[in-house]
Amino acid sequence: MNTIVALAGRSPNPWPRKKPGSTPRSPSLLSCTVSLFAVLFLFVFFYFSYARVSTSPSLLRGSLQASRPSRCEPRIRALGQRFLSYAPHSGFSNQLSEFKNAIVMAAILNRTLVVPPVLDHHAVALGSCPKFRVLSGREIRLAVWESAMELLRAGRYISMADIIDISSLVSSSMIRTIDFRVFVSLWCGVNIDLACNNQATGQSPLFASLKQCGSFLSGFNGNVDECFYSVDEDCRSTVWTYQNGNDGVLDSFQPDEQLKRKKKITYARRRRNVYKALGPGSQADSAALLAFGSLFTSAYKGSQLYFDIHEAPKDQRIQSIIEKIEFLPFVPQILHAGKEFALTTIKAPFLCAQLRLLDGQFKNHRKTTFLTLKEKVESLRQNGPLPVHIFVMTDLPEDNWSRTYLGDLAADVDNFKLHFLQEEDELFIRTAKELAVGGHGLRVGFVANSFARMDKLQKQCSPRILADVLLYIEEVICSCASLGFVGTAGSTIAESIELMRKHDVCSS
Ligand SMILES: *[C@@H]1O[C@H](CO)[C@@H](O)[C@H](O)[C@H]1NC(C)=O
Ligand SMILES: *[C@@H]1O[C@H](CO)[C@@H](O)[C@H](O)[C@H]1NC(C)=O
Repeated sequence: MNTIVALAGRSPNPWPRKKPGSTPRSPSLLSCTVSLFAVLFLFVFFYFSYARVSTSPSLLRGSLQASRPSRCEPRIRALGQRFLSYAPHSGFSNQLSEFKNAIVMAAILNRTLVVPPVLDHHAVALGSCPKFRVLSGREIRLAVWESAMELLRAGRYISMADIIDISSLVSSSMIRTIDFRVFVSLWCGVNIDLACNNQATGQSPLFASLKQCGSFLSGFNGNVDECFYSVDEDCRSTVWTYQNGNDGVLDSFQPDEQLKRKKKITYARRRRNVYKALGPGSQADSAALLAFGSLFTSAYKGSQLYFDIHEAPKDQRIQSIIEKIEFLPFVPQILHAGKEFALTTIKAPFLCAQLRLLDGQFKNHRKTTFLTLKEKVESLRQNGPLPVHIFVMTDLPEDNWSRTYLGDLAADVDNFKLHFLQEEDELFIRTAKELAVGGHGLRVGFVANSFARMDKLQKQCSPRILADVLLYIEEVICSCASLGFVGTAGSTIAESIELMRKHDVCSS
């Protein structure tokens, strides 16, 4: 609770929410006075809270009405687009599944999706939906914003669209996207390329103005009519649905009485039609930017935790998008690298072993994980030919393999040959460099005609420090393993590899 209070304290007060149609035509004296105070308050608030506005002399001279912001400046309205953002978090597989949910949301609400960077594995965590302990929308948006700024500054920024190939979705007009860096440049009115690869510690005016903009975009200034709308519903209160006729009913998963007492909460989780809640006719619809928090979901106790839109039989457009995104391939550079390793380094039919041994829940299942592998490996050994080639992807450092089944395999050189990819490998370094100069993410999305800094963005904001693409290449290699695949039960990486194998990525 303390952190929430502390974060809320960053802005003096949220914007008063104005319900559409709630302003009376002939206001009474009381509401007149109230409005006057509100306007005054807004003016004062704006004056102090937004440096760029407060230094604008025309605003100071202008009428009070003019200061009733519309923080959406004319240049944002001139884009003629409405945007949708969200706050990705946790590991890569999780970020990818949120990205897919965001694509569906953006398509349903007919908005341009702001494509975020790939965040570091543990940079942002949501908390636990089943325990009703999660960051609020604005808290997680701010955490993601700060992470993104840090990636830019450190020269490590990689867009989701640099890794995942969405070019066919965009070119077929199934969705519209905009790169986060382009979006921030346009919305915040800054030259964000100046923030890229910038060793400054973030004290410059540029970073100060970015900080204010980030706070605004995270929702700390509240909603602004026709400009910014924060989706405050999260997995504690809402499961988003579309077109399945049960708008507003209680979801089957609810906090139990004990939890309600312990946490002093009164949440009831409702299933809500996202099109009705945030689409045409809603207050959210007119906002230039609709900002979600996390879009994480997963099956839990027979329900979905937050996002339950897995088919749309009554809407062919959305249905085909849902089908299309079931599997989104890596960009060609990564696919090529994985195939090249299989063909030229392993050079033989092989088994892939994906062993998650260290992280959280997986630590306690080592025995089972190794047992499953052992069964598969033994049958391959008995049926030959020898040696059996095994590609290993694991989070256990090689120095620690001894006294595990991996150590046994590595020692038995007559029967087995183990392969793995390392960060020093030329293939890995080359691929990471190709991705850095490739600039996929910047090329696929929307760029306003007025936006003249694309070259500078491309030059300044491509990563200087190589991204961690090891995982993605390893996944491709595993999709090429013709002797089979043994993954760690419950690992999202294993699921992702199974999906790639199903879609026969390696032979395409
Ligand atoms: C979706 O948005 C685009 C661009 O903003 C607009 O041209 C189009 O008419 C919209 N489609 C629907 C179905 O509202
Ligand atoms: C790996 O080995 C090192 C030194 O041999 C040890 O300090 C470390 O705790 C081991 N890590 C794991 C995860 O077993």
